[in-house]
Amino acid sequence: MNRKMLIAGNWKMHKTPDETEEFITAFVARYQERPGTDVLIIPPFTSLDRAGRLLVGTEITLGAQDLYYEEEGAYTGEIAPHMLRACGCTYALVGHSERRALFNEDDAVVNRKLRATINAGLTALLCVGETLTEHRAGKVEKRIIAELTRDLAGVTHDDMAHVVIAYEPIWAIGTGETATPEEAQATIKLIRGWVATAYNDQTAAAVQILYGGSVKPGNAAALLGQPDIDGALVGGASLDPESFIQIADASLDR
Ligand code: PGA
Repeated sequence: MNRKMLIAGNWKMHKTPDETEEFITAFVARYQERPGTDVLIIPPFTSLDRAGRLLVGTEITLGAQDLYYEEEGAYTGEIAPHMLRACGCTYALVGHSERRALFNEDDAVVNRKLRATINAGLTALLCVGETLTEHRAGKVEKRIIAELTRDLAGVTHDDMAHVVIAYEPIWAIGTGETATPEEAQATIKLIRGWVATAYNDQTAAAVQILYGGSVKPGNAAALLGQPDIDGALVGGASLDPESFIQIADASLDR
């Protein structure tokens, strides 16, 4: 199974619509597309419409950082999945550790958001990962399997074609620390093994699993060279077109 690489840039709370336009213009002018690698940018909500218009006619895909699971109604401040599609999004992040930790999203909410994402025809980019305490206590497997089990509850084999998993050790996000390529490979292999048990071998062989947490131009090639790592979810280093291009260029042509 030759899985494609996916290089995703999560901009978090950075860039206005004008700054988004500047980034996309620079990126599109310089980036050479390759058939084995998909590029995804994930700007804040306020930039999505502008980004969607600018990306028409390119192969670069667009995603949202979050969504709400209802279709419409009296939910002040929330954004529905179909609204994201209307802006040109094909992906949405679900369960990022910052949403879980800072905005109290538990697995039940993550699960509802994930199912709403798939039902709206978007691909869910589900983030899982352990804290430093869990990492030091050797509880990585326990934490990750608990998250996967709860977050993917009720998700069918067919639905799994619309799920990408990102393994993001929380202690590596924004800290400059990364899991070693071997550690990341081992945990991602474990995730793939869980998918094989919960679904089947075919689904496990097909699902894209990314690594995230301080991915930079200097460490991308070693991480992306691991057999089970199918791409990167990049925060800080995705804000600059040059460094994001260097990371995308480090992906393999499998
Ligand atoms: P970072 O963020 O690359 O800045 O560590 C990764 C993420 O949170 O997705």
